[in-house]
Amino acid sequence: MSAALEVSGLVAGYTPEVNILNGIGLDVAPGEIVTVLGPNGAGKSTLIKTIAGLVGVRAGAVRLFGDDITGVEAHRMVRRGLAYVPQTRNVFARLSIEENLEMGAIARHDAPAVARDLQRMYALFPRLRERRRQRAGTLSGGERQMVAVARALMASPRVLMLDEPSAALSPQLVALVFAKVREVRDSGVTILMVEQNAVAALAISDRGVVLAEGRDRIAGPARELLANPEVGELYLGVRRGLQ
Ligand SMILES: Nc1ncnc2c1ncn2[C@@H]1O[C@H](COP(=O)(O)OP(=O)(O)O)[C@@H](O)[C@H]1O
Ligand SMILES: [Mg+2]
Repeated sequence: MSAALEVSGLVAGYTPEVNILNGIGLDVAPGEIVTVLGPNGAGKSTLIKTIAGLVGVRAGAVRLFGDDITGVEAHRMVRRGLAYVPQTRNVFARLSIEENLEMGAIARHDAPAVARDLQRMYALFPRLRERRRQRAGTLSGGERQMVAVARALMASPRVLMLDEPSAALSPQLVALVFAKVREVRDSGVTILMVEQNAVAALAISDRGVVLAEGRDRIAGPARELLANPEVGELYLGVRRGLQ
């Protein structure tokens, strides 16, 4: 069976003379949660943006359920079944929660299915139903993150990529967001997530990949990575020691 997402030999960068990704390979099986870890500046966000079609690919390939999607423009990725939640500025601040969710489904034309998915999102995030007429820009950080995830899910993706969904949230909200990520996976969506919050992220992940200097340095089952002293010392950063 094909991987849900398969990245091989990926080379990418922002300026012509510098590569930020130096040949990254990873794969995510259908129904898995895979977390990408690594120190600041390792290239985690660049990896996810490159997969999403927002940074040009210089070498290598990206496959989605066996289809080559290398170089597909970002706005077409959603139709192909790949959704992406950026770390910041991931909601339309002036629109209400419900308008944000409707925007997520803009490329879909099956109105009854979209209406059903909207209700599914409110069931997943009851807080959003209560506040559905409120402008997203006035929400708390945790609520905004939920809107961003729900909006991405409204595109009905097969694979969802999340860039640091727990960033800047209180420990209680971190736990809630990760519980929701698991629920999303259990509903049939494959997940590739970037996280700094290594211990909490690995706790809900099947596997992890540690990036350093634009390369995949260590990969393995989440439990093995948590127990690997090399991972702890070199790549998980200071947070690991604090938890
Ligand atoms: N838009 C950009 N233009 C130029 N360089 C960038 C841009 N975004 C990130 N970089 C550089 O790419 C490297 C990796 O950044 P990033 O992928 O954001 O790392 P991480 O998410 O692991 O912290 C850093 O050296 C950063 O300065
Ligand atoms: Mg980043």
